[in-house]
Amino acid sequence: MSNAPIGIFDSGVGGLTVFRTIERALPGRPLVYLGDTARVPYGTRSPEAVVRYSLEAARFMQTEGVETIVVACNTASSVALKPMFEATGIETIGVIEPGAARAVERTKNKKIGVIGTRATISSGAYARAIERIDPAVEVISQACPLLVPLAEEGWVDNDVAERVAERYLEPLIRADVDTVVLGCTHYPLLRGVIGATLGWEVTLVDSAESVARTLGDRSSDPSTGEAQHRFYVTDVPDPFRAVAERFLGRTIEQLEQTRIDD
Ligand code: DGL
Repeated sequence: MSNAPIGIFDSGVGGLTVFRTIERALPGRPLVYLGDTARVPYGTRSPEAVVRYSLEAARFMQTEGVETIVVACNTASSVALKPMFEATGIETIGVIEPGAARAVERTKNKKIGVIGTRATISSGAYARAIERIDPAVEVISQACPLLVPLAEEGWVDNDVAERVAERYLEPLIRADVDTVVLGCTHYPLLRGVIGATLGWEVTLVDSAESVARTLGDRSSDPSTGEAQHRFYVTDVPDPFRAVAERFLGRTIEQLEQTRIDD
């Protein structure tokens, strides 16, 4: 197995949920993380803008010599995978297909809820991916734009988070879904309030875990040494460092600000 780095790209800090899961699945594999913190959020932008930013990220990853690019950002995964691959020739894996496959595996009543940013939900990417696997599944999609700022603010288990979750998730509860895809990097941080609102009998699918499983399954000889990871952001590093160190529970040495726009 090659030990070339795997690139992980996100619009900001949220993709660290994917970073952490891949790090656990492939210990010893060097990872290059890029957070486009100067232009986050992507979830409120047009597909054109998201594709343009993602292409710049892909070219940056190419200069870093990565073997595979994992697009941790659901919004970018929903519109930019193909252009990124076409521009670089580097294998580019998104979170949509693995998340959709896992949800279809888990549903029993064939009713799946998908929650994500406005851009992800309006792209219809999850619904299409689920339909390709099992056309008999009914998909109920719901954009939850306020959940990203709540997660960033650390308001993940207070009364405001509860009210917002109740409001957004009501159509999914009414539709009797038994499985819900957490189709946004930030939502695993709100797993508690989302699970409590839906009822714990509903299966929550974390796309990050699904993509890490896909990579882990392919690796025949995971090395267990200490890997040197590199982190890049497009805005000043300190706010990212603070969140990332809290989130990963350790200090981050190799963190640099970089420009990726042409
Ligand atoms: N990373 C984005 C996603 O998973 C959420 C944050 C944003 O809107 O950029 O869709």
